[in-house]
Amino acid sequence: MELKLAILGFGVVGREFVRLLRRKSEELAREYGLAWCVTGLATRRLGMACNPAGLDVEAALAAVAGGSRLDVFHHGPPLGDAFDFIANCGADVLFETTVLNPRTGQPAIDHVRAALVAGQHVVTANKGPLAFAYRELRDLARQQGRAFLFESTVMDGAPVFSLVRDALLAANVLGFRGILNSTTNFILTEMEAGASFDQAVRRAQAIGIAEADPALDVDGWDAATKTAILATVLMGADITPLQVDRTGIREVTPEAAQAARAAGRHIKLVCQAEWRDGRLIARVVPQELPASDLLAWVQGTSSLLSLRTDTLKQLTLVEHDPGPAQTAYGLLRDLLAIVRAGIWANATSGRIGLSSPI
Ligand SMILES: NC(=O)c1ccc[n+]([C@@H]2O[C@H](COP(=O)([O-])OP(=O)(O)OC[C@H]3O[C@@H](n4cnc5c(N)ncnc54)[C@H](OP(=O)(O)O)[C@@H]3O)[C@@H](O)[C@H]2O)c1
Repeated sequence: MELKLAILGFGVVGREFVRLLRRKSEELAREYGLAWCVTGLATRRLGMACNPAGLDVEAALAAVAGGSRLDVFHHGPPLGDAFDFIANCGADVLFETTVLNPRTGQPAIDHVRAALVAGQHVVTANKGPLAFAYRELRDLARQQGRAFLFESTVMDGAPVFSLVRDALLAANVLGFRGILNSTTNFILTEMEAGASFDQAVRRAQAIGIAEADPALDVDGWDAATKTAILATVLMGADITPLQVDRTGIREVTPEAAQAARAAGRHIKLVCQAEWRDGRLIARVVPQELPASDLLAWVQGTSSLLSLRTDTLKQLTLVEHDPGPAQTAYGLLRDLLAIVRAGIWANATSGRIGLSSPI
């Protein structure tokens, strides 16, 4: 089978994903029977291109790296916006990798909705659609017989959602604690080692993990978004980031971080959620943790999620120093989940559908 793929948002993650597909192309064909071609690539500033026969992705990667526009690769009617792109890309699977809007999740929610309505499976690394419209999009995907997958939205490529979906069958997630934002964990680790807050932020920017305006991370918005997603998807809650009790790390001083470390403790930005008396309590807050707490040992850009379940008690996942390549791997695993689920439907219908909902 040849799957047609379109990537809406050809930035750091979208490009890593294409590189990973190319690197694993032979293995994907041999082990999963997957042949693929990219029929659409879209950016905001460098234009978009569709070609139903498949784009030359190597040339497209080179063009974008050199700051050249993608339009020269386009075949077909002119494209006005992302919705034109979705309608014309001819993809079986659309990857939504545009930037996060932390206040509303838009326009990515509308992108995902349009792609599902057009009969495309959707894989997203963008947290917005999950944080603000998970139930609606999940239900729409089911109605359409299409997949809506999002492994890369929390802990990059680590198998969080597929772990619960595929491995923890008949287990209920009762709560979780985690360190889910790399930038703040890096800043806290640097402050423990003697850096000022501003120095630590500049170092985070220098290694490419913090934005020019680090407020989204420092004020706890990114962590609150992930907390809301985990509570909603894994615990059956229905909350947005605005309903997470959120405190960022601006009030944590280097002196406090160093004093904690001298006492064998560590200050961490902890994400947590639990059901209490039928009410979901979801929080993001800096806490001083004893060395006996696993979360205290997560250093730098690493992350951790500890799930409390009704079958396995506590199960903890640690991801060491992830980057965009790991995020790209999350997209690839979602793609392979679709391939596996779609194999039987494909054999009978010719179009890539799902034999069972994912
Ligand atoms: N970086 C990571 O490791 C990581 C980890 C987990 C999740 N994520 C999520 O993955 C997504 C992509 O991250 P990234 O690091 O690749 O970001 P990025 O480098 O900024 O790339 C975003 C891409 O989306 C394009 N874009 C933005 N808005 C668009 C629109 N309305 N229509 C068409 N294209 C649009 C951008 O075009 P222009 O450049 O022309 O504006 C760019 O090509 C984000 O939602 C991010 O939160 C990233």
